[in-house]
Amino acid sequence: MPNKKIVILAIESSCDEFSVAISFNGKIITNIVSSQINDHKKFGGVVPELASRLHVKNFPYVLDLALKKAKISINEVTHISYTENPGLIGSLIVGSIVAKTLAMYLGVPLIPLNHIQGHIYGAQIDKKFNFPVLCLVVSGGHTQIVYLKKNMDFQVLASTGDDAIGECYDKVARVLGLSYPGGPKIDNLANMATKKTFYKFPSVNMDNSFNFSFSGLKTAAINLIHNLNQKKQSIEIENFCYFFQKAAIDGLLQSLEKAINNFKVQSLAIAGGVSANSYLRSEITKLANKYNLEINIPSVQYCTDNAAMIAELCFYSLKK
Ligand code: KG4
Ligand code: ZN
Repeated sequence: MPNKKIVILAIESSCDEFSVAISFNGKIITNIVSSQINDHKKFGGVVPELASRLHVKNFPYVLDLALKKAKISINEVTHISYTENPGLIGSLIVGSIVAKTLAMYLGVPLIPLNHIQGHIYGAQIDKKFNFPVLCLVVSGGHTQIVYLKKNMDFQVLASTGDDAIGECYDKVARVLGLSYPGGPKIDNLANMATKKTFYKFPSVNMDNSFNFSFSGLKTAAINLIHNLNQKKQSIEIENFCYFFQKAAIDGLLQSLEKAINNFKVQSLAIAGGVSANSYLRSEITKLANKYNLEINIPSVQYCTDNAAMIAELCFYSLKK
């Protein structure tokens, strides 16, 4: 890398968060996230049209605050980076227009990046990866096991064939009467379970490959709630959440263990919104200990959507 300062301004707007982060020679110095959760809550999930409109409204404040917190002038920025895909199209367009306009105005390089790869690099903000790494990407829109032999080398080993894990959590939570986003609520309730009443759920492992499926688990959970409601039987929600969560996460970890046994691995990592989950964080730590592997568990601020992960990915893509 050339011996000059690298000041990256990164933008993430793929869903219902607008975020701006700034890094200085690879160190994150600010990460501002404006969340729209309260605006979407009343609809039970993200309304794409509303998300893009709110991004248009919010981005000047987020940008201004990020620059103020970083105590730098916009003219000091040397690279602009943004999430190009995947995500909600309207939301992505707002971020891309802001990024393109800034890059053109400043006359600096523009670096479009991938959201999932961003989540993965979010897992190494606090502690750099020791390669090869097996990363479990678990978010509202994606569920994958990704193998990184070295920096910026992404090999997708497994994916969901249908729903993503976060989507499954949120939809089941909604039928349970929990507000959006349901993932953290199920996590909290599961932690209060007595485990005395057992609820049976199907496995998310699909076949002999590493792949998984979450639509079966989602349908089974929703049917069980409806059946119990029809029979006027009450649901022990804490135990229900515990066994649902166990089915969702144990299957993923089984696939991950299969991958550990088939690939040369030095570290495990988790990334994406669902990596904030307490059960997943404790179970993957046990798995890492079992195989004597290092582990990258991002702090909660870098689990859900944020621009720091895009700034981190950008720095390493420039290095490459
Ligand atoms: O990565 P993210 O912010 O957005 C996407 O790229 O999709 O992930 C959001 C997802 C939501 O489905 C939310 O319910 C889930 O992450 N989530 C959790 C927890 N915290 C957030 N799921 C389970 N347990 C949690 N503690
Ligand atoms: Zn995400």
